[in-house]
Amino acid sequence: MSVLDSLMNCAIPEAPSAPQVSGKLVRVVGLTLEAVGCRAAVGSLCRIETIDGSLEAEVVGFSGEKLYLMPSEELKGVVPGAKVTPIGGQSDFPYGPHLLGRVIDGIGNPIDGKGPLIKDRKQRFVPVRMNPLARKPISEPMDVGVRAINAVITVGKGQRMGLFAGSGVGKSVLLGMMTRGSTADVTVVGLIGERGREVREFIEDILGPEGRARSVVVAAPADASPLMRLKGCETSLAIAEYFRDQGKNVLLLMDSLTRYAQAQREIALAIGEPPATKGYPPSVFARLPALVERAGNGSENQGSITAFFTVLTEGDDLQDPIADSARAILDGHIVLSRALADSGHYPAIDVEKSISRVMPMVTTEQHQLEARAIKQCYSLYEQNRDLIALGAYQAGADPRIDKAIKLKPLIDAFLQQKMKEVLPYERCCQELDALCKAL
Ligand SMILES: Nc1ncnc2c1ncn2[C@@H]1O[C@H](COP(=O)(O)OP(=O)(O)OP(=O)(O)O)[C@@H](O)[C@H]1O
Ligand SMILES: [Mg+2]
Repeated sequence: MSVLDSLMNCAIPEAPSAPQVSGKLVRVVGLTLEAVGCRAAVGSLCRIETIDGSLEAEVVGFSGEKLYLMPSEELKGVVPGAKVTPIGGQSDFPYGPHLLGRVIDGIGNPIDGKGPLIKDRKQRFVPVRMNPLARKPISEPMDVGVRAINAVITVGKGQRMGLFAGSGVGKSVLLGMMTRGSTADVTVVGLIGERGREVREFIEDILGPEGRARSVVVAAPADASPLMRLKGCETSLAIAEYFRDQGKNVLLLMDSLTRYAQAQREIALAIGEPPATKGYPPSVFARLPALVERAGNGSENQGSITAFFTVLTEGDDLQDPIADSARAILDGHIVLSRALADSGHYPAIDVEKSISRVMPMVTTEQHQLEARAIKQCYSLYEQNRDLIALGAYQAGADPRIDKAIKLKPLIDAFLQQKMKEVLPYERCCQELDALCKAL
């Protein structure tokens, strides 16, 4: 029995009920509360009395005797000198198959009106950091149901991909297409820091009853507290890890990684960490790899987490510090182009700029050659686009360009797909093969 199995099956000892010394609130600055007179570890929770009840806050730092706390809900009814009582570690989150079909907030409270989550004390799960050598290598392709990705930017089971785009270019729609089209056993969707309106839309229109039955949605929209948004990402990852350890192939969709970085920026700046790059403090760049590394393949008898993290590129600038840092730690990126979206080409995937670093490990040599041929043809047309549009290119001057002009409409049609259309991996490979025969 592995350590993880024994952890999951062990009976949980009752927490010792040591008396906790309460302190008091001395200051509220922006989003942070400062308390003195009590001792609690970073990452643990405190209960703060308010005029009409209490609220929970997490210890996010300290300075001398002073604790910095960040509430997970709105700061309302907090008075000067309010009692602050440490209540220990994070509350036990009830991991289990009953999470499928549920919608929870950033700290694991159900928000779908379907009643409380069942707490099964035997199902205890503590996410543990994986030994990189224990991970299975990526060896199988992952069907995401989108032709441009399956055929030209093939993703492997256990790969971590970035979806880079400016706002309104089609990130959310593409994630939705993958949710419906993928063959994953479980889909975990983290809707972090995005529009609240889209949460319901995503669940009802995009997932639908069938998709929802095999999904868990974690929603911490833009108006949630920064701690809630930060925890939302971590909760999504922990749920994906739970299912992976149960042997399932999990598809994790996180919209968006940028909002996670921004939530960490808000928290870090509020407790006095100095900003470094573009207002982001150094802790942001430490947290990103720590989060992303949790996805990926498990050990031999476990499943996998194939993850897509969306990254918002401000003003379509791919050199944004978060985009830069994310690109370096992910196993590939899909870039969505505003020019393609503006011309009505959806999904607006720029195949020239997108790359899957594990494609050679999960596809046949024939498939790789065909994908490269499509990319080359597409790229050649793009390089000569202005000449061709102006009529300055003389037919016959370069046979490769002649071929690119002839095949461009076929390639464009191949790369486009309707929102509700699902194209299985095998079919995408056959269509790629057929298209290449025309080259
Ligand atoms: N495959 C598609 N077919 C047709 N239209 C599409 C497709 N993908 C996206 N669109 C159009 O693009 C619009 C914006 O898409 P979406 O909401 O996914 O963008 P986004 O990148 O998530 O934006 P934001 O950054 O603001 O969240 C959609 O409302 C839809 O009209
Ligand atoms: Mg969106």
